[in-house]
Amino acid sequence: MKNNIVLIGFMGSGKSTVGKAIADRLGLEFYDLDIYIEQTQNMKISEIFKNFGEDHFRNLETLAAAELSGKSGVVISCGGGTVLRKENVEILKANGKIFYLEVDAKTVMKRLENDSSRPLLQREDKFEEITRLLNIRKPIYEVASDYKIDATCDIKNTVDKIIELSF
Ligand code: S3P
Repeated sequence: MKNNIVLIGFMGSGKSTVGKAIADRLGLEFYDLDIYIEQTQNMKISEIFKNFGEDHFRNLETLAAAELSGKSGVVISCGGGTVLRKENVEILKANGKIFYLEVDAKTVMKRLENDSSRPLLQREDKFEEITRLLNIRKPIYEVASDYKIDATCDIKNTVDKIIELSF
């Protein structure tokens, strides 16, 4: 395989779990963009948001995307907002096939109901915010991706489909 496998999609779409499973199956290295940022900054994403704000986090995200895209034959799971910057899409596309893991608002809500690690969703009207962000981001995910995969079904199906499309 000459390129990277890059997973994008909304929070809770399963990018990290699916990415790790693909990497294990294919014997490739796996990188989670959020974890990479947390490790390089020695700080949780929620703390980066709290201490320095979202713009700073987005700059770190661009740096991380560039660093990880410099690798070859690896699996990269992005954050839900990584492809909001066109620059990041170009960086990731230059050396990878981009897969959009599509989920609906209800699925996200069910998966993230008790999650406290996503700063953007720490609010009373969580479902409304998920719906609002999804509506804005859906067309962006679609334009950024090479393939769209239904990620509401079980993980094995999603993994199988992506592996099939990777070769
Ligand atoms: C974000 C998604 C998160 C993380 C940050 C912002 C977003 O990643 O990067 O909280 O803007 O959608 P996950 O999609 O891995 O939860």
